[in-house]
Amino acid sequence: MSKRVAILISGGGSNMVRLVKEMQAGDWAVPVLVASNDPDAGGLKKAADMGVPTAAVDHKPFGKDRAAFEAALLDHIEAAKPDILCLAGFMRILTPEFTRRFEGRMLNIHPSLLPKYKGLHTHARAIEAGDAQAGCTVHLVTAELDDGPILGQARVPVLPDDTPNTLAARVLVEEHRLYPKVLEAFAKGESHSRTG
Ligand code: GAR
Repeated sequence: MSKRVAILISGGGSNMVRLVKEMQAGDWAVPVLVASNDPDAGGLKKAADMGVPTAAVDHKPFGKDRAAFEAALLDHIEAAKPDILCLAGFMRILTPEFTRRFEGRMLNIHPSLLPKYKGLHTHARAIEAGDAQAGCTVHLVTAELDDGPILGQARVPVLPDDTPNTLAARVLVEEHRLYPKVLEAFAKGESHSRTG
């Protein structure tokens, strides 16, 4: 049975595009919604152009009231009846109530080799630390930020003249390979997690 997948984005949505294209090329999942907290997110148009329903819930009018923002977002998500929720460059911190609701069926991609460098500025931190390798991680989302069982990782070398931007570009290429592969295995019930 093909799984229904909703994707949350905040920006350009290049990972979302890779996920949608791989789903549309196979029969293991169907993208049912792409939603963003930023009405101007470039990914919304890309999703619409690929024939995927979209929704935007601007977080700004909600101020610090995360629960009210999430309730508005949930209206769209629940209407799409997803089996799986994918965070793909979604840059809002979620409340424990939200993460609990989707526990065990919400995935995230993070641009570091977790458990290293949770949070922001991952590439600058990897360069600063003198790491020989950087990479990305797909993991199940739990209430703890960028935590939760790891479903897959990809590694790239950190080169001597790397800047955060050049390293980010090298990692992003791997993100585009890793996320669809991990989502497919997860949707088919074939994935194995390990704790980060
Ligand atoms: C990606 O590099 C993703 O790993 C990162 O944001 C970028 C989104 O790019 N996510 C995070 O930092 C989450 N904490 P995209 O919109 O082109 O997919």
